[in-house]
Amino acid sequence: MLKNDLLMRAAKGEFVERVPVWLMRQAGRVLPEYRATRAKAANFIEFVKNPELAAEVTIQPVHILGVDAAIIFSDILVIPEAMGLPYQMIESKGPWFEKTIKNAADIEALHIAEADDLGYVMQALQLTKKQLNNEVPLIGFCGAPWTILAYMIEGSGSKTFSKAKQFLYTQPQLAHRLLEKITASSINYLKGQVAAGADLIQLFDSWAGVLSETHFYEFSLQYMQQICDAISPLVPVTIFAKDAHYAIERIAQTSCSSIGLDWTINPHHARTQANGKTLQGNADPCLLYANETTIVKETHAMLKDFGKQNYICNLGHGLYPDLPKEHVKLFVDTVKAFTQY
Ligand code: CP3
Repeated sequence: MLKNDLLMRAAKGEFVERVPVWLMRQAGRVLPEYRATRAKAANFIEFVKNPELAAEVTIQPVHILGVDAAIIFSDILVIPEAMGLPYQMIESKGPWFEKTIKNAADIEALHIAEADDLGYVMQALQLTKKQLNNEVPLIGFCGAPWTILAYMIEGSGSKTFSKAKQFLYTQPQLAHRLLEKITASSINYLKGQVAAGADLIQLFDSWAGVLSETHFYEFSLQYMQQICDAISPLVPVTIFAKDAHYAIERIAQTSCSSIGLDWTINPHHARTQANGKTLQGNADPCLLYANETTIVKETHAMLKDFGKQNYICNLGHGLYPDLPKEHVKLFVDTVKAFTQY
């Protein structure tokens, strides 16, 4: 039994006496403790593949920041790697793939990942679960199939992901074939995560916002829906489709339990679209560069806008590495102390 199950209750739409709060990228460079642990590994990939170190940084924000959930330290790019496309994480540049997907033969050569192919993530989850001692829930995750396809085609980060979008426009059948393989791999992977101890799953569609509305439904949402249908009978699922502000109503029709919102979305508008589903978000991470008075004032306003029930407090995207740790802690403390809904 979880000692603090606020996140689980909020995700399921059950009554909470206080709004739960966690932060995307809470296990990251904002914490000097993370940087110290990371220095023990040769590089990012070795770090991700080391269950002891991964468990250590997963738990750090629970004790240092006082958040109401842990999110397993890993990366969405472990799926392309398990399917046959290894990557490197280049310092201050981001991900880089040696091999990318160009044609049908490349797609056919990809392996459908099984949970066992990602045994190091399963071990990290099991170890974290044990060390967390049921203090807070443990969140598992994967990338949305579209976001994973985008990296597989592009081979690195991009402002526009125009190569990946070109593929959707010129090779739609191949794109669907690739999305099917990524979806099958993601379902195997997430089932493994649940068996290893994940209490809730979040799907990160970080690049939803580069797609047109029709393409988002055709190439992204239908695959996230398939994943939700496979996983939501086991644990609650959150869909976070960044910048797909028009899609809340359609996302609410899937079997997800919560909808993640970026900071461009008005909370009242989101409520009218969400069909009673729990909302998660949506402070601008840059708010945490502001002075303390502004952080408290804006956080209070956001909490009032969302209300206490059916709500998980978070940012609208991940923490930036140069945000002051004290401001991050102030945000968490402000949410936990607020009572004036
Ligand atoms: O605390 C957590 O949120 C859990 C850990 C987590 C990481 N990546 C660790 C990480 C999670 C949930 C992710 C997901 C992820 N990875 C996404 C989706 C979320 C989002 O941000 O939109 C994406 C797009 C990636 C791909 C990725 N990983 C990029 C583009 C980069 C480089 C950018 C950067 O911040 O350096 C990463 C690296 C990465 N993943 C870091 C961390 C803590 C930083 C690497 C480091 O420690 O040097």
